[in-house]
Amino acid sequence: MTAPEALTSFAYGLPKAELHLHLEGTLEPELKFALAERNGIPLAQKTVEEVKASYDFTDLTSFLAVYYPAMEVLQTADDFHDLAWAYLRKAASQGVVHTEMFFDPQAHTGRGVPFENVIGGYRRAAVRAEAELGISAELILCFLRDFTAEHAMSTLMEALPYRQWLVGVGLDSDERDNPPSKFAAVFARAKAEGFLLTMHCDIDQPGSIGHIRQVLTEIGVDRIDHGTNIVEDPELVALVKERGLGLTCCPVSNSFVTEQMKSDEIVGLLREGIAVTVNSDDPAYFGGYVADNYVALAEHAGLTDTELVQLAINSFTASWLTPARRAAYIAQVEQYALAQGVPLPV
Ligand code: ADE
Ligand code: ZN
Repeated sequence: MTAPEALTSFAYGLPKAELHLHLEGTLEPELKFALAERNGIPLAQKTVEEVKASYDFTDLTSFLAVYYPAMEVLQTADDFHDLAWAYLRKAASQGVVHTEMFFDPQAHTGRGVPFENVIGGYRRAAVRAEAELGISAELILCFLRDFTAEHAMSTLMEALPYRQWLVGVGLDSDERDNPPSKFAAVFARAKAEGFLLTMHCDIDQPGSIGHIRQVLTEIGVDRIDHGTNIVEDPELVALVKERGLGLTCCPVSNSFVTEQMKSDEIVGLLREGIAVTVNSDDPAYFGGYVADNYVALAEHAGLTDTELVQLAINSFTASWLTPARRAAYIAQVEQYALAQGVPLPV
């Protein structure tokens, strides 16, 4: 394995797609203070250190309890633009050339923020990223699984006028007692409307493996977010491989909401030929953007540079780009690897 500085430089320079990133999870404390001031919102914490000290999570539920209240500072279309723009600049500095970004409209409309402020601001940043940073950026609308299926369906209806700005729909938030099957009708309608489908199957949830089975057999997803508990059922691993589905893994996030990065599972699946990808999830909360996740996993699991190249290739294979654009980006990855003297995966 390469020395630490060489590894960081190689991982940052590797052209990559990010496929598991919650825009609301990129709210850094500094921006939170700036938006609070702009919108006249008093905050309980007064310093960046105080905000960071409140990031005391041990599982998904305790993380979400910190995550949602922080969003109160997001009000106007400019706020949503500024949030996404800050992420896109950071992503560009970490080698991201394509990103498919989650957002949670119900976390905002539920507070009285109009849907068009949310999607309008995010879309403006995505268009700007293409022009000014050369990053292609798409949006995935996520439904909150701890809200009702009826609420998800009405959110889908609200999104239809903006369908040309959305590449797909997803499902996130608290998985406990909120299985994929609860949203079967919503996802069937979304598919009929032409959206691609993904769902979170978070790490070590009660019923994780059953939820993974549901997303594969009942929902018919095009990708799975997290999903590494699939190692518990080799038949499901074979099914994912046969369908060529991607798993969007987030090693640094895993180490915050469980006791480990789940590197054995991620690397085991990678070496079995599954289209495992590495992503940052909620980087403002977990302290690592996407290239930092490549570095953390490589250091922890002893990945070779060729395996890092495989992860970058997988990020495009599992993306929702057209086959021609996927192939063009993969060619960029291969050129980069060869220029760095790194053998390509076979
Ligand atoms: N919302 C933001 N990050 C999430 C995650 N990792 N799992 C479920 N919901 C989320
Ligand atoms: Zn996530």
